Amino acid sequence: MRRKLIAGNWKMNNDLDDSLALVEELKSLSGKFDKDADVLICPAFVNLYHVKQSLSGFDIKVGAQNMHFEEVGAFTGEISPAMLKNIGVDYVIIGHSERRQYFNEVDETVNKKLKAAHIHGIIPIVCVGETLKQRESGIEKETVKNQIIKGFENVDGSEAVKTVIAYEPIWAIGTGRTASSRQANEMAYFIRNCLSEIYSSDISDKVIIQYGGSVKADNAKEILTQSDIDGALIGGASLKAEEFYKIINYAK
Ligand code: 13P
Repeated sequence: MRRKLIAGNWKMNNDLDDSLALVEELKSLSGKFDKDADVLICPAFVNLYHVKQSLSGFDIKVGAQNMHFEEVGAFTGEISPAMLKNIGVDYVIIGHSERRQYFNEVDETVNKKLKAAHIHGIIPIVCVGETLKQRESGIEKETVKNQIIKGFENVDGSEAVKTVIAYEPIWAIGTGRTASSRQANEMAYFIRNCLSEIYSSDISDKVIIQYGGSVKADNAKEILTQSDIDGALIGGASLKAEEFYKIINYAK
């Protein structure tokens, strides 16, 4: 039985004061969070440490939105996996489409980061998804399969099973245009089959596959009750405590 993972990707929003204020609101609601869901928030790098400290004793996980794959060295502006681990970061988002689009992130770097995260005991959330053009050309599955194959190249089954995948169709991110629950589930099922081909059904059955792209309180239940969708990666709607809380408690 796969647990649900409800994750907020705060992107480049919230300074330290805003981040801590939002955390306080989430803490006050956390006693009423659905016990069947794991809850994760991913603030900006500069706020990670303070957010993590503030959440001490609360069952809300903290993740980074990116990291470098190298251990240490002359990589100006980068953050290493060890640095994240050292401040108690539990998860890291890898290969988000915004990073692929604006910061030249490619499947090869996703692969390196995925491996580096596991070496340090950080759970990677690997983002995959097609553009609108790719979907309209009917190559969305081929695109995602390619991202999975390259992203998981030479990744051991024992690590694959602990990797989270977020299916985020680019045309649904921040657009208010959600994939239909059928489209989202079909792709999640397809991704699971890809993993089954690479590894085994035993492994693919255990992998958490999230959907991301304009998830809101009012569409969360429809999406999160699909057979192969095990959670959501939420942008805009995770910036409001009450809205995020409603998504966490979609089942109620
Ligand atoms: P929105 O929920 O704002 O569409 O963002 C989705 C996303 O990119 C999460 O990583």
